[in-house]
Amino acid sequence: MLKIENLQAGYGKVHVLNGISIDVPKGKVITLIGSNGAGKTTTMRAISGMIKPISGTITLNGKSIHGMESNQIAKLGLAHSPEGRRVFSTMTVTDNLLLGAFPRLTGSRPKGDVKGDLERAMELFPRLQERRQQLAGTLSGGEQQMLAMARAVMLNPEVILLDEPSMGLAPILVEEVFKIILRLKSEGVTMLLVEQFAAAALNVADYAYVLENGSISVHGDADKLKNDPAVQAAYLGTGSHH
Ligand SMILES: Nc1ncnc2c1ncn2[C@@H]1O[C@H](COP(=O)(O)OP(=O)(O)OP(=O)(O)O)[C@@H](O)[C@H]1O
Ligand SMILES: [Mg+2]
Repeated sequence: MLKIENLQAGYGKVHVLNGISIDVPKGKVITLIGSNGAGKTTTMRAISGMIKPISGTITLNGKSIHGMESNQIAKLGLAHSPEGRRVFSTMTVTDNLLLGAFPRLTGSRPKGDVKGDLERAMELFPRLQERRQQLAGTLSGGEQQMLAMARAVMLNPEVILLDEPSMGLAPILVEEVFKIILRLKSEGVTMLLVEQFAAAALNVADYAYVLENGSISVHGDADKLKNDPAVQAAYLGTGSHH
């Protein structure tokens, strides 16, 4: 579905990704694990067109999306729930969600049942339901994070990039976010997931890649990496115990 090969990207003269390859097959949840500054967000940004890659190939369903504008990439069915709360603060919750469905409303994506999906998004995130007429900028940080994720889902995407969807959320809501990820997975949504809670990410993912200093150091089945002593020591906070 989504295939990244030899991707190099960065910011101006700052080279971050040194040629990484990631395969995100249809219906699977793939997680990208790595320390702060490893390049996870940069990877997501390069895929969704927020920054222009330096070199490498990125294909969505066999079609190259490398170097395309992010709105064009969204039209092809790739949604990005970015790190931090990138919501439209002067618009209501409902309007933010409808904006996520924009390519469906303008005919560049299959329309489907936008109204039904809006109700479904509200059902997935009851917090948003209660605040549907509230301006997004007045939501709490955690609520804005949920709105960003719900907005990505509103595209009815083929594949969704989730960059730290649980950031800033209280523990009970973190659990809720992982439940939603599992629910989307059971509905066949393909996902590339970056999460600070690496153990939880490995629990919902099928396959995982470890990013170290802009290069993939290890990759394998999520179950396998979960039990890998080096991965445990570096990312799961369990290495030195027991
Ligand atoms: N806009 C920018 N301009 C210059 N350098 C940047 C920019 N954004 C990120 N970087 C640098 O790129 C490197 C990778 O950052 P990135 O945000 O991809 O890391 P990350 O793996 O997502 O980290 P975190 O877990 O903290 O979110 C870092 O060294 C960072 O300082
Ligand atoms: Mg990041």
